[in-house]
Amino acid sequence: MKYALIGCGRVAPNHIKAALKNGLEIIAVCDISSDNIDLLFEKTELTEEQKQKIKRYENYVDLFDGEKPELVSIALPSGLHARCAKEAIKRNINCIIEKPIALSIADADEIIKLSEERGVKVSACHQNRFNLAVQEMRKNLEAGNFGKLSNAAVTMRWSRDEGYYSQASWRGTWEQDGGALMNQSIHAIDLLRWMCGNDLKTVYGKTVNVFHPYIEAEDAGVAVLEFENGCIATLEGTVNVPGDDLEEHLTLIGKNGVMKLGGKSANAVEYKYFDSEGTAQVNSLLEKTKNVYGNGHTSLFADVIDAVENGREPYVTARDGKRALETVLAVYLSSKTGEKVTLPLNDIGTVDFINMF
Ligand SMILES: NC(=O)c1ccc[n+]([C@@H]2O[C@H](COP(=O)([O-])OP(=O)(O)OC[C@H]3O[C@@H](n4cnc5c(N)ncnc54)[C@H](O)[C@@H]3O)[C@@H](O)[C@H]2O)c1
Repeated sequence: MKYALIGCGRVAPNHIKAALKNGLEIIAVCDISSDNIDLLFEKTELTEEQKQKIKRYENYVDLFDGEKPELVSIALPSGLHARCAKEAIKRNINCIIEKPIALSIADADEIIKLSEERGVKVSACHQNRFNLAVQEMRKNLEAGNFGKLSNAAVTMRWSRDEGYYSQASWRGTWEQDGGALMNQSIHAIDLLRWMCGNDLKTVYGKTVNVFHPYIEAEDAGVAVLEFENGCIATLEGTVNVPGDDLEEHLTLIGKNGVMKLGGKSANAVEYKYFDSEGTAQVNSLLEKTKNVYGNGHTSLFADVIDAVENGREPYVTARDGKRALETVLAVYLSSKTGEKVTLPLNDIGTVDFINMF
C-alpha cells in the first residue's frame, strides 16, 4: 500500500517505524522544513536506497495530487490536522490523524461526515488502546469480570518545561495546540471515556496556568465526569511536576473487581476480581517500551491497513477522536463559565479560549 507521512517532527519516527514494520511502501514525506526531513531520516531504519526513493514535498496538497498515496498519516501541529485531513479525504486518501484529531467540534464533525460519505477510512491516533496492558484491561472489562463500574480516576502527572515548549512555536497555543489536557492527557482521557462507556453526560472542571507564563493554555486541569450509565470519574492532568514525568494512571472500580493501569506509557496493568465462585483472581501485565509513546503506533497502523483492505471500520475511529476532543473542550468550557457542562457539545473549539489566562 502506497503511504506518505505529513509532518516530520518529534513523533514522526514512530510513524516511519510503524510503516516499515507493516510493509507499507513509503513513497513520500512532507514538511515545510527540509532539515526536519533530514533529521527524521537519520532517526529511522530506512536504508540509503529507500531514503533516495522517497519523494520530499513542502506542500501536502502537491504531495496528494502528485503521488496519489492510498494512506497518509498526519503528524502536523495539532491545529493543522483538520485542514490536511479534509484535503486528503476529498481525494479518497485514507488517513491516520495524530491526536487530537482536530481542535474544534466543527472540524471533527466535518472529518467524520466527509469520510463516511466517501467511504474513506480515518483513524484517530490513540495508539495506547493497542498497548498489551490496555488490551488486557479491555478484555476483562468486556468479559464482564469487573461487573458494573461505579467510579474511575485518571491521573496524568508529567513534566514539561520551557525547553520543551520552545522546541516549536505552536506548542501551548490556543490556535494550534491547547495545554496539559489537550496535548499530554488526551490519551488517558480517551481511555477513560472508552472504558467507562463512551456516553459522557456532564463535566465540571477547572483549568489553570500556574508555572508556564510562556504558554497560552493550561498547565494543569481537574474535572469531575458523569456518564449516562451512572459511572462517575475524576480527571487530573498536569505538566507541572518538577524534574521528570511522575505517573499516568487509570483506575476502574467495578462491583466485582478493580484495575489499575500505569507505567511510563500506560504499559502496565494490575487487576483483581472475584469470579462467580467468589475466588479472587489476581493478575498483572507489563509490556516493555522504550519511550512514553509506547509500541502502539505499529499496531494502530496494522489495524488501519487491515481496515482499508477489508472495508471495515478502524479499531479507533474518527468518532473516538472526537469523543476525546469533546471531553477536553468540555473541561475548558466548564472552567471558563464556572458551570457544569452537559454534552454533547456543538460549536466550540480551542480558539474560543484565547485570553483565558
Ligand atoms: N500519538 C502520540 O503519542 C503523539 C506523541 C507526540 C505528538 N503527537 C502529536 O503529533 C503532532 C506532531 O507533534 P510533534 O511533537 O511531532 O510536533 P513537531 O513540531 O515536532 O513536528 C511537526 C512538524 O510539522 C512540520 N510542519 C509545520 N507546519 C507544516 C505545514 N504546513 N506543512 C508541512 N509540515 C509542517 C514542522 O516543520 C515539524 O517538522 C501533534 O499533533 C501532537 O499532538 C502525538
